[in-house]
Amino acid sequence: MTQATSPLQDADLDALVRPDKVHRKVYVDPDIFALEMERIYGHIWIYIGHDSQVPYTGDYVASQIAGHQVVMVRGADDSVNVVYNRCPHKGAMLVPEGTGNTRKLFRCPYHGWTFHLDGTMMTAPLKNGYEGTCFDPANPEFHMTKLARVERYRGFVFASMAAEGPTLKEFLGGAITSIDNLCDRSPVGEVEVAGGVFRVMQQSNWKVFYENLHDTMHPMVTHESSVVAARQQYRALPEGSPMPLELLVMDGNGEPYPFWESLELRGFDNGHGYMEAIFNPNAGNDPVMQEYKAAMHAAYGEARTAEILGMNRHNTVIYGSGSPHTVFQQFRVIRPVAVDRTLIEIYTFRLKGAPPAVFERALLYANVINSPSSNVMPDDIEVYNRVQLGNQNKVGGEWVSMHRYHGTDRKLDDGSVSINGTSELPMRNQFAAWRRYMLAGDAA
Ligand code: FES
Ligand SMILES: [Fe+2]
Repeated sequence: MTQATSPLQDADLDALVRPDKVHRKVYVDPDIFALEMERIYGHIWIYIGHDSQVPYTGDYVASQIAGHQVVMVRGADDSVNVVYNRCPHKGAMLVPEGTGNTRKLFRCPYHGWTFHLDGTMMTAPLKNGYEGTCFDPANPEFHMTKLARVERYRGFVFASMAAEGPTLKEFLGGAITSIDNLCDRSPVGEVEVAGGVFRVMQQSNWKVFYENLHDTMHPMVTHESSVVAARQQYRALPEGSPMPLELLVMDGNGEPYPFWESLELRGFDNGHGYMEAIFNPNAGNDPVMQEYKAAMHAAYGEARTAEILGMNRHNTVIYGSGSPHTVFQQFRVIRPVAVDRTLIEIYTFRLKGAPPAVFERALLYANVINSPSSNVMPDDIEVYNRVQLGNQNKVGGEWVSMHRYHGTDRKLDDGSVSINGTSELPMRNQFAAWRRYMLAGDAA
């Protein structure tokens, strides 16, 4: 990408990130946000969507990444294309943000120029008037522009605005195992988006959400009210009743500190990582699980099934894209919109070949934990907003602490692992990547 002129020098940026703390400006400075969109989002692989969202020719999902309108569309040849959603005539978006079907071509709603589903131009109305000009449908100047690189991994479509850089697999590193595990949980090894999407516009910087995904010191405080409510509900049930799943997932946030200290946190290159799960919903042996495990055993055998379902992860971070949750089959897509605005889209996946009740369980989790009208997510949104507002103070404190268990992370060949599950390793790991991208610029 072309480097825009920024008032920020590398030395300014370097001074903002220390090994154990970051300057509050990284969350509130619009110039830093603009540079992030260029130096981070302009280079990395970004999750666009899943190919199951565009099953038929002409199906599209239009969204924005780093302030650019883009559209993922299913081509006639089963390809999945990602092109900038901009007409080369006067710049109009070809399709509105959201989903739909554009049939066999894009037709601009302004003057009717048409484009193939790979973005190349078909034709423009009324040819006379273009004689003697350089207008030519074969000229790439008159095509919709493709994103520089697009790769699909097990149905997950990523794109990069940079023509050069690591492959998608190289970029994802150890985080790719979470995508694999999500798919492997299907007896046929495939997943599909189903059940709609929750969209939430948060009034906070995008990095706050990533940091919170592995923040194991907040659940028992931020979510105290929903833990108390779940326990009250449970006490109202007949003595000896098992705790229903909708209460169990809320109750999990109330585990005591020693429980969280025992969890594993992992950080990979490029800011990715994962957190071990709070509990294993597949540990039970109810009729749903019996049916599901029978399908898995038939597909993979008992040993491999135990391995797949034993990979028990809570949030995974794919830095810059969002967070797959393997156990409850979802992907929370994180889209920075402005320095203090972040759009979160929560998609739930159906495991192909699994009993319908497994999908219903994932929907239950999304509704109880992630829905904007749930008892849990609004707790997080409130504290994210307070972090944003507190860090907008120009006086009253400069730094944001990431000291917890600093200096104790164990280095592995493929990344780092915490010695304690309440470590702030994930935040330090994310900012190590942030610093590298921001200082390296085009060289990243
Ligand atoms: S802006 Fe698209 S045809 Fe004119
Ligand atoms: Fe939370």
